Amino acid sequence: MFEVLDMPHDIAEPATPVRPAAVRGRVQLEGVWFSYGGVAGLESVRRYGWGGMTEGEEVSARRDPAGWALEDLDFTVEPGELAALVGPSGAGKTTTTYLVPRLYDVSRGKVTIDGIDVRDMDLETLAATVGVVTQESYLFHDTIAANLRYARPDASDAELREAAETANIASFIEGLPLGYDTVVGERGYRLSGGEKQRIAIARVILKDPKVLILDEATSHLDAHSESLIQEALERVMEGRTSLVIAHRLSTILAADRIFVIDRGRLVESGTHGELMRQGGLYASLYQTQFAATAG
Ligand SMILES: Nc1ncnc2c1ncn2[C@@H]1O[C@H](COP(=O)(O)OP(=O)(O)O)[C@@H](O)[C@H]1O
Ligand SMILES: [Mg+2]
Repeated sequence: MFEVLDMPHDIAEPATPVRPAAVRGRVQLEGVWFSYGGVAGLESVRRYGWGGMTEGEEVSARRDPAGWALEDLDFTVEPGELAALVGPSGAGKTTTTYLVPRLYDVSRGKVTIDGIDVRDMDLETLAATVGVVTQESYLFHDTIAANLRYARPDASDAELREAAETANIASFIEGLPLGYDTVVGERGYRLSGGEKQRIAIARVILKDPKVLILDEATSHLDAHSESLIQEALERVMEGRTSLVIAHRLSTILAADRIFVIDRGRLVESGTHGELMRQGGLYASLYQTQFAATAG
């Protein structure tokens, strides 16, 4: 089931798939418009908690199926950069992130990686290029080792341990009676939200994608868990292009570029300092949301 998130779903393999020899990870949106009207896939997206629309939001989304969720969006994230998406709830941040791994395809315009339209890219290459970490990480009913190896079947035990260490979950796993052989998932050992998320981070470390998409959706984790995750995420973002729906102050302060989205449009972009000086939407969001969270 994790494949739905990892691998484009209900999305056609291009007629002549492009398989770049190496990917640098430059992500660009060019004149992107997107409407949920008439597109399928809500179920598969919701199952993974990616987006977290409330029931009310869903009802209003259905009522206006032809409305544009994204309008003429343009932005570029250079290889290795950290880009933060910020904006009010319902602005279109989550929708934007769906378009990179082709959970949905654009209605108009294009999304490219290294200049290649994602719709032309070989699906396997695309799946290997883009890694996703969300708040609700799906784990199979299987051992922790199997869950981790899902990302890289040939990973050695030492590599599993190394990834788990980087993700700040190794000592927890090693403290379980069965260690990496502990069965988790639906009817398995009950992991906390923070533990699950750190296993998902270890999995993405093993996968080692050039482009990382991260939804930092506000969590109900305790401060200790939060800081373990924060540290793990900082490590995993290093050396790859990261597109982050940012809720943590530390992330937006660290971002190379911040894209401010409002009602489906890119309304401001720049660094924290530049945007604060503009005194626009970002500055007011910063004062009302981020400054208070100080995470
Ligand atoms: N699966 C969906 N089906 C229909 N409409 C949706 C779906 N997901 C989001 N929307 C609508 O698209 C718009 C942008 O939502 P979203 O990308 O989730 O915003 P954000 O992540 O910034 O809160 C909202 O109007 C929302 O109601
Ligand atoms: Mg969202």
